[in-house]
Amino acid sequence: MHFFHGIFSRLGVYHWRMTRPIVADISAAALRHNVAVVREHAPRAQIMAAVKANAYGHAVTLCAPVLAEAGVDAFAVASLEEAEALHALRLERPICLLGGPFDADEVSVAAARAYLLVIHEQRQLRWLETHAGDAALRLFIKVDTGMHRLGFAPERLPALFAALQRYPRWEVLGLMSHLARSDTPDDPFNRQQAGVFADAIAHVGHATAGQHSLANSGGVLALPFTHQHWVRPGLMLYGLSPFAGRRGSEIGLQPVLSWRSAVVAIRELGPGDWLGYGAAWQAPAHCRVGVVAAGYGDGYPRHLGCGAPVTVAGQTTCTLARVSMDMLFVDLTDVEADIGAPVVLMGAGGPPLESLAAELGTISYEMSCRMQMRVPRRLVS
Ligand SMILES: Cc1ncc(COP(=O)(O)O)c(C=O)c1O
Repeated sequence: MHFFHGIFSRLGVYHWRMTRPIVADISAAALRHNVAVVREHAPRAQIMAAVKANAYGHAVTLCAPVLAEAGVDAFAVASLEEAEALHALRLERPICLLGGPFDADEVSVAAARAYLLVIHEQRQLRWLETHAGDAALRLFIKVDTGMHRLGFAPERLPALFAALQRYPRWEVLGLMSHLARSDTPDDPFNRQQAGVFADAIAHVGHATAGQHSLANSGGVLALPFTHQHWVRPGLMLYGLSPFAGRRGSEIGLQPVLSWRSAVVAIRELGPGDWLGYGAAWQAPAHCRVGVVAAGYGDGYPRHLGCGAPVTVAGQTTCTLARVSMDMLFVDLTDVEADIGAPVVLMGAGGPPLESLAAELGTISYEMSCRMQMRVPRRLVS
């Protein structure tokens, strides 16, 4: 098995060939497929691809060019730093700062780059006033439709829009809001939020360019009434399902990540032999143990512990004992595998990330963001 040797520079440069056999394969074909699934579900909407948090851990430098080529219309990020990293790729797509500026100093950079700014607080408008000069800003106004995270209360919108009339060089593209329960599409809260959003549009939509946005992945997939002008999928682009108990592959998506490593040593244990830190696991009988070059220092969750599924040389087996920082153990007793055997820790070709996340008591979003920067990401076709 050949591993990628080198990593994108901004976030950590390896100056020599990496020989530790761990890599995250990022499938361009799967990304393209998942964009097509978004289009299928929301054929009339523009796609704003959420690539924040380093493309949900998948490496924005690898994913964003493929997404652009696949036809997404804009990108969404969570910070100016993320926007700048994306801007450096020169993909010629608008970049939207989902939380707007975090302080006044960000405004001049954002204005110079023509980033789309989501405004959710009055003080952000003051920063724009003092720091944007005569830049022609393009804004979304965030409306709180019930999640109570960010956004203006709907009743404050008329006054806000009246105030915005003083800035004819600022274009309000549309209203934006976020769904709190789109992972449970049957929940009436979704319709409730969409209703509040529709009312807000009815009141102030005429003062915008009509480019409203509400749907994230759950909305794209299951709530067509939320689609509006822009959909903002994140998780589904990476082939992961936003719905509990359903894997991406079960809803027509393809996993983008295949997190791979290899067996670097094999130990034969006799009955009663202890294994790993804390001598926390004892062989019940003779067994063959593979040592794999992956650990919690790479982001493999220590709490997955003993018994997590893992694929070795195409065969399903499980982890044993405690996960170390750089290594973990797999049971090879009934597996045909030697040193160098390929291991898939999660994703395509191995256990679904969603299942491991559920086992860990978390969500795919968090799981996909866990993989550490020392794991080189490699784009595969
Ligand atoms: C404001 C906003 N829009 C869109 C998204 C994308 O959501 P998802 O990954 O569920 O598609 C997120 C993600 O958290 C978000 O915070």
